[in-house]
Amino acid sequence: MFNINSYNEIAAEGLELFEKEQYALDVTDDPDGILLRSADLHGTVLPLQLKGIARAGAGTNNIPLKECSERGIVVFNTPGANANAVKELVLASLLLAARPILEGAMWAKTLKGPDAVQKAEAEKKRFVGSELAGKRLGVIGLGSIGAMVANDAYRLGMEVRGYDPYLSVDTAWKISRHVIRVESIEEVLETCDYITVHVPLMPETAKMIDAESIQRIKKNAVLLNFSRGGLVDIEAVVEALEERRLAQYMTDFVDERLLGIEGAVVLPHLGAATAEAETNCSVMAAETLKYFLETGNIRHS
Ligand code: MLT
Repeated sequence: MFNINSYNEIAAEGLELFEKEQYALDVTDDPDGILLRSADLHGTVLPLQLKGIARAGAGTNNIPLKECSERGIVVFNTPGANANAVKELVLASLLLAARPILEGAMWAKTLKGPDAVQKAEAEKKRFVGSELAGKRLGVIGLGSIGAMVANDAYRLGMEVRGYDPYLSVDTAWKISRHVIRVESIEEVLETCDYITVHVPLMPETAKMIDAESIQRIKKNAVLLNFSRGGLVDIEAVVEALEERRLAQYMTDFVDERLLGIEGAVVLPHLGAATAEAETNCSVMAAETLKYFLETGNIRHS
């Protein structure tokens, strides 16, 4: 029998794959496998007989990869399993950046009395937005999520520019021919009205959107970061928002320095928070780990 630490964050559908096979799901001191979502294993003493770690999600920055590789512990993630959920949140955020939908709805809630309709019509000019169609979107990182965002933004009428020096052949085939590939990140920063970052957080990409990059961003552009907070220099973002150079910074990662800053829209890591994505990630991570522990082989889908 294998022991699996599940860290209680994994959707039931994946865990059931183990229960059916009589795997132990209790947190034990020496598991063969760890199935996790957001729990951070840095600084944790990794169990002696640990063979594999599966993350129900794309990012693996909560796993000490160097230590795992030195000890021969195999690390799996679930690429693509939550990509649609993240893409939908990015598209929703683009729409919210362009149109004050929430502000209008909050204001309408305050209307009362027989003249509510009249008042709404009279004051609607307070909530005039702009259209995404015809605006330029820059997508930094054309992996599974970035590629989907680029394709769908094009369908919304945006002019899309994509930057990815490491584009895989598999993903390249999935990107619409209407997405213009550019050779430098500067071209994205300097020319786009909306910029969205879809890059994994690694030592090489930490703060890749640094103070200098933020200086280069076109005035009044909107920067979206639904990948990882650490990709962006937050101090520089706050300064750009305060100086009204950047119109909005929309992110899925809470950072104390952004709270209360005008133009900062902060979500509590909701990118993959859909029932469908949680199930997909849980099942993919559990199947991959189970197969590996049972056979010693890595399953290719
Ligand atoms: C991911 O890395 O894919 C997401 O952070 C998943 C999650 O929200 O747990």
